[in-house]
Amino acid sequence: MKILVTGAAGYIGSHTTLLLLEAGHDVVALDNLANSKYESLRRVQEITQKSISFRQIDLLDDFSLDEIFARENFDAVLHFAGLKAVGESFVEPLRYYQNNVAGTLNLVQSMAKHGVYKLVFSSSATVYGASGTVPLVENSPMAAVNPYGRTKIQVEEILGDLSAADPRWSIALLRYFNPAGAHPSGLIGEDPEGAPNNLVPFVAQVAVGQRPRVVVFGADYETDDGTGVRDYIHVMDLAEGHIAALGHLMTSTGAYRWNLGTGRGASVLEVIDEFSKAAGKTIVYEIAPRRQGDVAVSYADPSAARADLGWSAERDLKQMCQDHWRWQRTNPQGY
Ligand code: NAD
Ligand code: UFG
Repeated sequence: MKILVTGAAGYIGSHTTLLLLEAGHDVVALDNLANSKYESLRRVQEITQKSISFRQIDLLDDFSLDEIFARENFDAVLHFAGLKAVGESFVEPLRYYQNNVAGTLNLVQSMAKHGVYKLVFSSSATVYGASGTVPLVENSPMAAVNPYGRTKIQVEEILGDLSAADPRWSIALLRYFNPAGAHPSGLIGEDPEGAPNNLVPFVAQVAVGQRPRVVVFGADYETDDGTGVRDYIHVMDLAEGHIAALGHLMTSTGAYRWNLGTGRGASVLEVIDEFSKAAGKTIVYEIAPRRQGDVAVSYADPSAARADLGWSAERDLKQMCQDHWRWQRTNPQGY
């Protein structure tokens, strides 16, 4: 199949592009490189020994976007492109709504105009806000607590309306839990700009000596060790979930919501401990107050994806830390 991947140079997009190439698909990779480098896709081609057609285009540039659809005959679109920093979304809400919501509107308008009706969208467990009881199931109420999360809810609603209005659409809304890890080659991985917002890349930078210590946001939660619990999912498992969802869309229409998580929670201290074993060194940390907006515990009920897609996460926290460390150790400055 010929697949358009938006946000292909990013963390999850690059790992999924790699699997698409290995599965024999033709990939057109679109990215404006706002939060990534072309080097990730160069390495994907090095690993797979297959070539990608890369287009440096912004989703907000509807003219260029439409030109790609006019030229290529896509079977489906995997849509990763988006801004994802929660803190930044409070400071620049309009940029987030413009990029994530208006960018997606441009994309689906071009798709409809050119008769492409199969779409996989990167949603997030953030859509559950603080409201859900764990494990989170897909019909838990949606309640985002930040502008970034609201862009995900709005896009989910827009795509749901689109599919209800036109039965030709097949749409997968994939709600990722906490992606971590890297391709086992160590050649591609997560390359955050500036100080990482997320736990695992922060711990990795401490392990490699770029930061003095991990700041643990709260040790007074009602959890076994007092620190926050999350469902960390290996980025390769996540990428495989996209291949499974794409397969499902080929034979069915409608809009589907699937959690992509492991169903198991790990605390902040467990992550630090496991990473320190992978890196073979002590990782210094200090306990600080809770971070505003954090929930105590979040993990998926992944049974719908297992039942509908035949997919489940296979890799554990140990492998996630080992693979993340291999990438970080061999690429201390990222790409
Ligand atoms: P990332 O920033 O590494 O990748 C996103 C890519 O999209 C980047 O390469 C960026 O340059 C590109 N991009 C952004 N806006 C664009 C635009 N207007 N036009 C063209 N390209 C654009 O992030 P990621 O971690 O790979 O996340 C991929 C998707 O998954 C995002 O939509 C994100 O919101 C979602 N998600 C991520 C996480 C996570 O923790 N990583 C969790 C849940 C959901
Ligand atoms: N944490 C720390 N120190 C840090 C970073 C995080 O203690 O430096 C803690 C947090 O308090 C939380 C856990 O580690 O308990 C995980 O935090 P992350 O920031 O890595 O992940 P979140 O679950 O808060 O949020 C992430 C993404 C969101 C996404 C959500 C669900 O940032 O965009 O996962 O997919 F929506």
